[in-house]
Amino acid sequence: MISLRLKTILNLINNEKRLIDIGCDHGLVGIFALKEQRVKEVIASDINPKSLSAAKANILKYNVSNMKTLVSDGFDNIDLKEDDLVLISGMGFKTIEHIFNNDKSSIINNVIIQSNNDLYDLRKHMTKHFYIEDEKIVFEKGHYYVIIFFKKGIKKYKFIDLYLGPKIRFEEKEYVTFIYNHNKSLIDKIGNNNFIKKMKLSYINYLIKNQISYFNK
Ligand SMILES: C[S@@+](CC[C@H](N)C(=O)[O-])C[C@H]1O[C@@H](n2cnc3c(N)ncnc32)[C@H](O)[C@@H]1O
Repeated sequence: MISLRLKTILNLINNEKRLIDIGCDHGLVGIFALKEQRVKEVIASDINPKSLSAAKANILKYNVSNMKTLVSDGFDNIDLKEDDLVLISGMGFKTIEHIFNNDKSSIINNVIIQSNNDLYDLRKHMTKHFYIEDEKIVFEKGHYYVIIFFKKGIKKYKFIDLYLGPKIRFEEKEYVTFIYNHNKSLIDKIGNNNFIKKMKLSYINYLIKNQISYFNK
């Protein structure tokens, strides 16, 4: 069995020629994508050879073919093609930013990203070259995970789109309310010596409150 987070990522993979799973660790997304015939071929890579041993063991366990493993820091050792679907999940934004800070990334047209943090920074960074095709929210083991499908192209986004997600802000009342309450507890903790930070976050929460009123219409 795979986690709900991985299952949700898997459901975004359909009729793909090749999946490039960067930071694959256990390799389970690629394995299940092959088993469920969502993809024809998988390259599963990781910077850490030990992680790849886990992926290799799972490839044997689940008896899948058409899946190669390879050690690589991001895209360094990967021969990317235009019709590849790239997956980067379970990492922080700084690592994702580092991975995309590689000229090879300009060839990518489709990428699924699940960042563990800094979603505003992630959306701001990625929407310089991609637009947001789809977004999913998963609540598992006490955490919200946001999974974003980016496609090559440019769309205009408001601040609130980048902060909450352009689809999520209209569809996920519980998540949006959670973010509002989380920010509220942060605002209460910020001392008056950090007045600007307090005002900034208060303004963001004012925008989120307006967004919540959309759900109550
Ligand atoms: C928490 S695991 C996530 C595994 C899997 N993608 C998932 O979502 O469950 C993060 C993996 O990313 C790998 N990683 C970290 N930095 C990387 C980089 N620059 N390039 C490739 N893999 C990296 C780590 O070695 C680790 O196996």
